[in-house]
Amino acid sequence: MCGIVGYVGCKEAQPILVNCLKRLEYRGYDSCGLAFLGDGLQVYKDVVRIGELEKILPPNGGRVGIGHTRWATHGRPSKVNAHPHVDCRGEIAVVHNGIISNFLALRERLVSEGHHFFSETDTEVLPHLIEKYYRGNLEEAVRRALQDVEGSYAVAVIHRNSGELIAARHESPLLIGLGDGEKFLASDAPALVDYSDRVVYLEDGDLVVMHGEGLKISNQGREVVRKEHHLEWTAKNVGKAGYEHFMLKEIHEQPGVIEEMVGESVSTIEPSVNLEVFIDRTVDGILLLACGTSYYAAMVGQQVLEEIARLPVRVELASEFSYSRTVVGRTLAIAISQSGETADTNRALKKARDLGCRTMAITNVRDSTVTRIAEQSFYTKAGPEIGVAATKSFTAQLIAFYLIALSLAEVDAGTFRHMTQELRLLPSKVQRVLDSEKVIAGHGRRLSGYESVFYVGRGISYPMALEGALKIKEIAYIHAEGYAAGELKHGPFALLREKFPVVALTLRDDTYEAMLSNIKEIKARESPVLALAEEGDQEIAKYVDYVLPLPQTDRLFAPVVISVALQLLAYFAARSRGCPIDTPRNLAKSVTVE
Ligand code: F6R
Repeated sequence: MCGIVGYVGCKEAQPILVNCLKRLEYRGYDSCGLAFLGDGLQVYKDVVRIGELEKILPPNGGRVGIGHTRWATHGRPSKVNAHPHVDCRGEIAVVHNGIISNFLALRERLVSEGHHFFSETDTEVLPHLIEKYYRGNLEEAVRRALQDVEGSYAVAVIHRNSGELIAARHESPLLIGLGDGEKFLASDAPALVDYSDRVVYLEDGDLVVMHGEGLKISNQGREVVRKEHHLEWTAKNVGKAGYEHFMLKEIHEQPGVIEEMVGESVSTIEPSVNLEVFIDRTVDGILLLACGTSYYAAMVGQQVLEEIARLPVRVELASEFSYSRTVVGRTLAIAISQSGETADTNRALKKARDLGCRTMAITNVRDSTVTRIAEQSFYTKAGPEIGVAATKSFTAQLIAFYLIALSLAEVDAGTFRHMTQELRLLPSKVQRVLDSEKVIAGHGRRLSGYESVFYVGRGISYPMALEGALKIKEIAYIHAEGYAAGELKHGPFALLREKFPVVALTLRDDTYEAMLSNIKEIKARESPVLALAEEGDQEIAKYVDYVLPLPQTDRLFAPVVISVALQLLAYFAARSRGCPIDTPRNLAKSVTVE
């Protein structure tokens, strides 16, 4: 979604800000812009990629500046709606992430006071409010303006008469990079990897005045000190490392991610699982809250927790939980969000907290917003994920569920040992799937010729059918739907025909016979079927058109192996279609609006 960058220091701001914005491109955006203090205030913005904007920027010696990538919410993508926005005199420039919920009332008031508006955005009220309150002190004007504002924001502000950069946050992330004689501002850590690994995360209500030499943070008018952190994300791990796309690189990183997560928590001496989080197993039940791919991870997590930890688990779409849902009994609510910034998930977790639940987050991003809502956080170790489609962050979420379930296990010692053994074998099994990339690429190319496809599975494969369909939909633009295989004949069957393929996930577990029946029914309607089946399954080839063999894996752990194959399938379908794989149209890496 929208991204913010800022610079104040001893160097020329323009190339630094352009580079920082390029580091945020993966998050998805429709327009971008920059403002510098050079010879007065200069603003450049348009509905273009950053590389194109860069070409039209005149040389500018300014040492203070702000930049933005916009993902349209209030007002369509257009030059006038792009950030930065300026006041009537063109002296103040503002970039903003979040939503100002009372902007209409503020705008009406400002118009009645003589302010002129040009855009359809909520953000434009900010420079006008700051202009209204400006009496020569930018910090004070921003503080006063923000008192009028309701909603969420991360903002950065510059004024032509001031050499400082003012920033503030409320429910939208913002961090500061520290350098020698220079300071950087960003909404997301990857923006800073080329310049600083010393960062300070701002808290809600913080207002910061940044100079090259100094930094003053205040909250509710009182000066505060925020801890300095070491940034683990580096320029090396946010690069493509020779792969054609970030998505492919991230798919290939999965064996390492799993190995690291399992290695850190599963003891090699005695069979035990130790986690940084403490989970009280005397709760009456667990409530899982998530959106999109993370929701599908939660659906797998539900089965894993119920079966291994023997706790009742409920899964809710975070975007639905906020409406008239409640909880019964002592519940642990867990939000699952790779970014930690998904507005619906954060809102749902807050609601669960307000209903008296204990709270926890499973996330990939340290100090993200969800970690401030939750009492404790389980950090997945996926590392930066730049491709918009979740891949390694999804498998890391699955591993988190296995580890949590095993830490609460209610199974006999033999089963426990078998399960920890299965976990340890996952990296090599995933590697074997990656090694069959060429074969999967062939299936992906074939699928790319169709306009629609169903993915079907039963039991633990059902959420994987949903995830497989989402993946090919979002990156290959192929209409796809995931179904519990038994549901097809309750309506969707009407669509089956020669030009409508089906991807069937057929594990040799207690769902196998029913899956074979479903496959025969599908074949009778002439749909081509590709089965993802276990190696050594001789039976399946008799009924389907194509078989993609996967390493045999214990049923509960099979989603990891299946998901990697489905990611590659979607990737190669998208590549055949020439899609912009890392930055699919209309999508953003973290969805910070409800
Ligand atoms: C799909 C995808 C999305 C996210 C969803 C939730 O590949 O990435 O469906 O899973 O937007 O995002 P997080 O996990 O950041 O809360």
